[in-house]
Order: sequence, then structure tokens, then C-alpha cells
Amino acid sequence: MDKILVTGGLGFIGSHTVVELQNEGYEVVIIDDLSNSSEKVLEGITAITGKTPIFEKLDLKEKSKVEAFFAKHNDIKGVIHFAASKAVGESVKEPLLYYENNIGTLVYILKELKKLPEASFIFSSSCTVYGQADELPITENAPVKQAESPYGNTKQIGEEIIRDTCKVVPSLKAIALRYFNPVGAHESAEIGELPIGVPQNLVPFITQTAIGLREKLSVFGDDYPTPDGTCIRDYIHVVDLAKAHVVALQRLLGNKNKANYETFNLGTGKGSSVLEVVKAFEKVSGEKLNYQIVGRREGDIISAYADTTKANDELGWKTKLTLDDAMRSAWKWEQKVRG
Ligand code: WQD
Repeated sequence: MDKILVTGGLGFIGSHTVVELQNEGYEVVIIDDLSNSSEKVLEGITAITGKTPIFEKLDLKEKSKVEAFFAKHNDIKGVIHFAASKAVGESVKEPLLYYENNIGTLVYILKELKKLPEASFIFSSSCTVYGQADELPITENAPVKQAESPYGNTKQIGEEIIRDTCKVVPSLKAIALRYFNPVGAHESAEIGELPIGVPQNLVPFITQTAIGLREKLSVFGDDYPTPDGTCIRDYIHVVDLAKAHVVALQRLLGNKNKANYETFNLGTGKGSSVLEVVKAFEKVSGEKLNYQIVGRREGDIISAYADTTKANDELGWKTKLTLDDAMRSAWKWEQKVRG
């Protein structure tokens, strides 16, 4: 079966995607620099699938190391590229760190793929490229707006680099997957989200509050023009998201793509407010969550949820897991890790 490289494969979405690739019989090679993950994740993957992927600790910013890797693994048929820095707030403070790590490394990988007889490339992008969309639900044709952060800008620039490269490298086929908000964990609780330090994202903050690691959840604003005043997002279960990566890769490996560069929104198509997420968590966990409404967070958009028509029709993929499933699995994971 084809050998697939997963960069950032020990991260949250990466590790869940490795599991689904192995379930489909692919041979998986992981590159990770362990800056935002741990080698213990390999044990979790093995516990689920019974197969340990090849793992190479490697900093993709080191061009010569990237060249040497591809010289050694010249039978790679596809790459799923997760490796990137992804903290919005940090990107504002350290833009050069983000441009070097998220853009520089992408260029090095694409230069290696250009040398292969053919290559399929899946890029981890984000709905953040849309900013606050004018129309909801958001389709892939929605205009890409001025990025709200250097992080978001690296996703926009990354997509443009891939698009321009595919135009002149006929052997390269690529898909950019624009995630909405990934949440939850594998039902086995063998892998899940491992935020370092204080979580920026809503769901890990909720579960860390419920387990007693955080005193309370601050809800950033309830004065937005939404039904309950809190922001709306499209929370997609990470296992559904992981499966979409395998389906997108198979579209390329099977030459079913309609263009050499395509984009797909990956969401549930349903928006949930912050308070609805809190209530869903309380319902499935039986825990009363300690939260307080505070002021708005700088840079938050009001509402974003996906129009999933293109992914449903073209990829033949749709989400199967619900917000409740995501809350249940996130809580089970938190209890396993901290309990
Ligand atoms: C969701 C909602 C917050 C924390 C970010 C990135 C995006 C993607 C996903 C990488 C918002 C509210 C949050 C808290 C809160 N990451 N919130 N209290 O901002 O939609 O997206 O993560 O690709 O690129 O921008 O996700 O989970 O941070 O926030 O009230 O302690 O929860 O205000 O309305 P976001 P989030």
C-alpha cells in the first residue's frame, strides 16, 4: 500500500489522521519536531491500530534535513502537511516565527515533491482565511479577506504558494482543506488534544475547568448579534475531520480531482454558540461548569459555519459525529490524561 508522509503527525489532528490512514492500510511516516506534541502520542496511535508508524524527529526549517529525508523516502506517494505553528495570539507577537515556520517549511517540502514523478499533497488550511464572511453558511467561493492575524495570513499565503506551484508542476496535485473548529478526541481516549500551557481554544478550556485544572471558564462576550449573544462557530469532531483527509488523499491518488488545486470547507454545516457548547458539555458530562461572562476577545469574529455541499458532493464525505459526541470524547480524554 502507498507510503504517506504526515508532517505534524503527532499533533492533535495529525495523530487522528494517522490512525485513519493506518485503518485504510496505508504505510505512514511521521515527521514531527515535537515543539507542540510528544513522542508518547506514538503509543496512543499504536494502542488503537496495533501498528507503530515510522517516526522521524525533524525540524522542517532545516532545508538540508528535508532534502535528506526525501532522498531516503523517495517512494512517498502523498503528503498530508499539518506541521505549522497555530496559536493566533502568539502569531501577532511573533510574526517572523510564523512566517519562517509556516511558509519556509512549506516551500522546502514542495521543492522536494517537485522532484518526484508524481505527488499528492493535502494542506491543512483553516476557515480563518475567510475572516468574518459576508454570507453564511460559508462556501469555498467566499472571498478570502485580509487576514486578522499573521497565523491566518500564513494559511492564505500557503494556499497561494500551492496554487501557483500546481500551475507549473503537472506532476503535483493538491487539495487545501479549510477546517472550521476541530474538537473532541478518539473514542478510545488513547489520543486527543494536548494543549501546552493555558488553552486558547474553547473546548480544552472547558474540560480543564471541569477537571479542576482551571478555576473557571471566561466566556468572551455575550453582547454579539446572535440569539444568545455569544459567538457562533462550526465545531467539527476531529475523527470526522481526520476521515476527510483520507478521502481527499484518495481523490488525488485515484486521479479523481477536477483540477490540480482544489479547496474544500470541512465543517458540520451547523453553527453552535459558546453557551450552547457549554450546555452540551454539562449535559453529556453531568458536570456543572463554572463560567463567567467577561468582555469580548480581540479579533473574534461573530459567526462562522460551513456550507458543506462541495465536500459532501465532491468528496462523498459528511460528518457523522455530533457536538455531544465531541463533548463526551473530549471529557473522556481529559479524565484519562488528568484524572
Ligand atoms: C471559539 C469561541 C471565543 C476560549 C481558532 C483559530 C482558528 C482555528 C480554531 C487553527 C470564540 C470563545 C474561547 C475561551 C471563550 N485554529 N472562547 N472562552 O477563535 O474560533 O478559532 O481556533 O486553525 O484558526 O482562530 O476558536 O476555540 O479559540 O474560540 O469564550 O476561553 O469560543 O471567543 O467565540 P476560534 P476558539
